[in-house]
Amino acid sequence: MSQDHIKEYWEQQAHTHADSHWASWGDHWMIDLEIETIGKHIGPHDHVLDIGCANGYSAFRQAELRRPAAITGVDFASAMIDAANRSNQNRSDATTLDFQVGDVRALDFADSSFDVAYTTRVLINLPTWEQQKQGIAECLRVVKPNGLVVLSEGFWEPLVLLNAMRALKAMPPLVEHDFNRYLKMSSLDLLLRDRDLPYTVEDFSSIYYLGSRFLRELVTDPSAYPGFSNPVNERFFHLEREFSGGGFGIQQAVVIRKPAG
Ligand SMILES: C[S@@+](CC[C@H](N)C(=O)[O-])C[C@H]1O[C@@H](n2cnc3c(N)ncnc32)[C@H](O)[C@@H]1O
Repeated sequence: MSQDHIKEYWEQQAHTHADSHWASWGDHWMIDLEIETIGKHIGPHDHVLDIGCANGYSAFRQAELRRPAAITGVDFASAMIDAANRSNQNRSDATTLDFQVGDVRALDFADSSFDVAYTTRVLINLPTWEQQKQGIAECLRVVKPNGLVVLSEGFWEPLVLLNAMRALKAMPPLVEHDFNRYLKMSSLDLLLRDRDLPYTVEDFSSIYYLGSRFLRELVTDPSAYPGFSNPVNERFFHLEREFSGGGFGIQQAVVIRKPAG
């Protein structure tokens, strides 16, 4: 299966939404949680690679918040990179930012080039587990020994858990976007164990998903609180930052440390 129609979709998103977070996703609460979670792994001297950076929205936020030495963004949609380059003009960040067209399955960087590499909802766009594994291998290749790969991706197991709860209340199941293929945590665990790669999982969206994708419909009239910018989502965003965990968060961050030797 080719990724051509997926690429066309993202090219169009870039034309429609320019520098807005909407180019990637409307759920700005989740985007804030992703940025916060990934940012904890970025230090001031790091050279960071944001793979599937879209229009650079998150890379610019990381530059403001974490001020690493440099962030390179790559995306296979050239209109996304054009949008990122436009936004990058006239900025005066301490961080050096550059953006270029590139594909997570074959990154155009030498081995061990970066301190930290991250993906955010990018591997889920790859149509097979084989291609997803290839993307993960590329992330690991370009990171320095002892460096970090953060995969902030959508996972299948929490989707099943949320849908089981929804089924109990006769709510329709949540479905993946037609071209997404959520990662299976069980397969990723096997892969990483097999390669002796130590990793941790950061469940940073459970309370938010439970609130915004279940309780909102259960205890309110959801038509009174449509979309993402509503007070219910906002409340659960704040609760997420106080309490986390539970396994309901479709977005989880897998943090892999590349062995030193
Ligand atoms: C859901 S958006 C996420 C964007 C961004 N990472 C963020 O945090 O908002 C997915 C992005 O991945 C890019 N993408 C999808 N497949 C890719 C691939 N094979 N190589 C590089 N980028 C890809 C898309 O063009 C799109 O910009």
